[in-house]
Amino acid sequence: MYGVRPGRIFLYRIPCQGERPITFSADGLPEGLELDATTGIITGKTPETKEEFEVTFKARNAFGETTRPFRIVVGDTIALTPPTGWNSWGGHMITVTDDIIRQAVDVFVERGLADVGFQYIGIDDCWMRVSQEMYDNLPQRIEDGKINPHIFEKHEGFDYKSNGIIGPIRDNNGNILPNANFPDMKALTGYIHSHGLKAGIYSAPSTTTCQGWAASGGHEMADAKQFSAWGFDLLKYDFCRAGDKRMLMSRIPGFTAKDFWLPMANYIRAQDRDILFNLCQYGRGEPWTWAPSIGIQSWRIGGDLNHNVSHYFNQALRMAGPLREYSKPGHWNDPDFIYIHRIRDADRMAEPSKEIPLGTNERYQYVTLWSIVCAPFFFSCDIENIDDFTIGLLSNADVLNINQDALAHVAEVVKDADNQVIMVKKLADGSKVVALFNRDETKEAVVEMDWDMVGLSSKQNVYDVWRQKDIGVYDSGIAVKLSPNGIGLFKVGFE
Ligand code: GLA
Repeated sequence: MYGVRPGRIFLYRIPCQGERPITFSADGLPEGLELDATTGIITGKTPETKEEFEVTFKARNAFGETTRPFRIVVGDTIALTPPTGWNSWGGHMITVTDDIIRQAVDVFVERGLADVGFQYIGIDDCWMRVSQEMYDNLPQRIEDGKINPHIFEKHEGFDYKSNGIIGPIRDNNGNILPNANFPDMKALTGYIHSHGLKAGIYSAPSTTTCQGWAASGGHEMADAKQFSAWGFDLLKYDFCRAGDKRMLMSRIPGFTAKDFWLPMANYIRAQDRDILFNLCQYGRGEPWTWAPSIGIQSWRIGGDLNHNVSHYFNQALRMAGPLREYSKPGHWNDPDFIYIHRIRDADRMAEPSKEIPLGTNERYQYVTLWSIVCAPFFFSCDIENIDDFTIGLLSNADVLNINQDALAHVAEVVKDADNQVIMVKKLADGSKVVALFNRDETKEAVVEMDWDMVGLSSKQNVYDVWRQKDIGVYDSGIAVKLSPNGIGLFKVGFE
């Protein structure tokens, strides 16, 4: 399912695993859209009027043929399913470059992530510049409380000068300038788009970003236009150093949290391309209650998981519990990325990336949880060094399909006791996904579930989602022996 506004640029790469060459075809595409039969990439412009199109994709290779239904909804709502992709922050932080972003594209295409439906490649903080004045005045700005004094400790070992970071932050027309690591933004988004993928950019409503680099405060209109002209499809907009500004604005009678974000949200929506808006205010001010009303597609529900990667389970339980009613097509709670494999230390950003402190089972838990609670399915890691295990973990098409299911039902917790959690997500085809977790970190456990706990009875076919195989018919429920932190993910309730 895919939402797009009327009269907009359309770009979609049909996700399809299997040996290439594959020949693609699509029945029922709206006029104005064209499919490249070899790449499976659909491009064009959507109709000017609101309408839904039931499309059938077909893919054929030397081994056979398969079809899938796909719905294109031309209307006001975009991000009908949770956005999917990779973001530069966890793995690269201040060292992100054009080259790294291109490598991410190559990993998506060559190692199969694009084939299961990962779409967005997001540049996070640190693509912009730091002005000479800002740089020279840093000691003063730290003293004035305008810059976090720890920034230099965090950036120690990173040479601003030789990395081409220092310089005018805007041109004579007020347009924001990328640093020397991003020589040509338009060429970069062009590279991303030529592979059928989407491009993400980052900024903040203050004068500097979280790392103290130039941001959009006071230049919202110019920057929204620039991001669109460069060809970006997603903006992550971070709160960072905007506290003072918001305090000031809160003196305006009737001012609310939502008013603070409104200018950028409006300018982004006013562009002639669809740009998703990902709000990053760490869950402060309950964005889930107001962000959808100003056209924001997703909002962070908490702080950075990379600092506290072990919090992933709690965030998923919040998503499945008190926040579950706020995730719906077009508007998603965002618990932060799946920080996976190798990431950088947010306190020592110039140092090489390191393995995250999570065991194999915990990594399965993390990905499973993000899938079943309809989290934006974004991962973040050192893309230059991503290993085969992580590629395999992320490219189970059934897990992606559960996350992208059209019903957008956020899993419900049916058991949370004795170190065991059972969660159930309903799918659009009437079946159910059951996730069984052993949260004991040292002991194995048998986790049992009767069909009546999920409103089913008698004999049920059971499909093991991670192993991608049918495991038989079960009479009254299932009992699974799980290792410490182990997880079982099953589909039930289908013919
Ligand atoms: C904040 C955000 C992170 C990342 C950094 C970049 O901490 O929450 O996701 O974007 O800023 O500086």
